[in-house]
Amino acid sequence: MPRETPTFRIAVLAGDGIGPEVTSAAVAVLHAVGERFGHAFATEPALIGGAAIDATGDPFPAATRAACDQADAVLLGAVGGPAWSDPKAPVRPEQGLLALRKHLGVYANLRPVKPHPATLAHSAIKAEVLEGVDLLVVRELTGGSYFGRKERHADRAVDVCEYSIGEIERVARQAFRLARTRRGKVTSVDKANVLETSRLWREVVSRVHREEFPDVVLEHQLVDSMAMHLIARPRDYDVVVTENLFGDILTDEAAMLAGSMGLLPSAALGEGAQGLYEPIHGSAPDIAGQGIANPIAAILSVAMLLRHSLGLHREAAAVEAAVDTILEAGRRDATRRPRDLGGTAGTAAIAMAVLAALPPMTPARPADSPFPAIALRD
Ligand code: NAD
Ligand code: IPM
Ligand code: MN
Repeated sequence: MPRETPTFRIAVLAGDGIGPEVTSAAVAVLHAVGERFGHAFATEPALIGGAAIDATGDPFPAATRAACDQADAVLLGAVGGPAWSDPKAPVRPEQGLLALRKHLGVYANLRPVKPHPATLAHSAIKAEVLEGVDLLVVRELTGGSYFGRKERHADRAVDVCEYSIGEIERVARQAFRLARTRRGKVTSVDKANVLETSRLWREVVSRVHREEFPDVVLEHQLVDSMAMHLIARPRDYDVVVTENLFGDILTDEAAMLAGSMGLLPSAALGEGAQGLYEPIHGSAPDIAGQGIANPIAAILSVAMLLRHSLGLHREAAAVEAAVDTILEAGRRDATRRPRDLGGTAGTAAIAMAVLAALPPMTPARPADSPFPAIALRD
């Protein structure tokens, strides 16, 4: 008798530009994990961003919302591009992504940055600065100026930045909880010397720390000097928590610690186990359609999906180990290194190499994972 395996449902929103290229590599890895570890993953493709505008006029159509609602997790490529960037266009691809994040309530965006030893030599930053760097940015994802009132007048424009106490408390708690599983330190980044929302941010983070997480070390850092310290002494940081816009900018900067934008994955989580997983990079219109995008950020997003939404820790670790093997193989061999790290290997070559580096079929084991999905709750 074949044993019963649960079917995990994954909505796949490939999006625009290199989104479909890196997503198909990531989905191939997901299915290979299914085969090798005995899981069934039902992937459900759905439209988002510019591709959705072209097909339906809406960057986050109702059918996509339904597919996401029914899914255990959502895997996204990237949205946007010059075809949809006319400032006078009534709707933009990026609005679809923001609507999706808001709809799923995924307010905590985990963006880990841990340079692989083999990539240090290919970074623009000195290897001695990068050695031992292991930080996790927790970016608030459903508030701030991204979602505030917007106005356009003949002679001026308005973007309102608003944060409630509740919105700050919940993301601060996630950051403190995560710090307890790591090196026990949180750096909260704001602009409290100028912005009222930042003064509230600092006040609320300090109180949550004092009342609920006194065992964690908390420091506050202004965002402008943080942009400098992140490059000058990145090893000093463990968990970095910050508001939506600062987190967006600082994590593209942090990608340079890892060596490239093509390496950084992310997980967006809310109160439940369901999550949204996407590389931190965009649709890269400058290289789209050429088969040269690095799929590693998307593949590592699959690892985060396996771990955080499905509770498949062993499988997540296997994907990460396969990526480590590929990066190690490219240390001295440019033909096995992705192009954004100075090599010549394209999207398919990297994806095939990751598939080959995954462990072989494992013997059948009980369908129920001994590990619960870690929803970041108590
Ligand atoms: P981008 O991240 O798309 O590209 C920045 C640079 O990094 C480019 O030179 C690009 O070629 C390179 N790059 C990015 N990903 C790469 C990969 N996997 N492999 C190799 N090189 C890679 O940022 P941008 O050019 O400022 O934005 C382009 C579009 O993407 C915009 O429309 C923007 O709104 C959108 N965007 C979407 C997301 C998302 O969907 N999550 C994220 C960021 C930007
Ligand atoms: C990201 C992107 C998005 C953001 C854009 C495309 C809306 O830059 O995911 O980092 O700013 O959040
Ligand atoms: Mn960004």
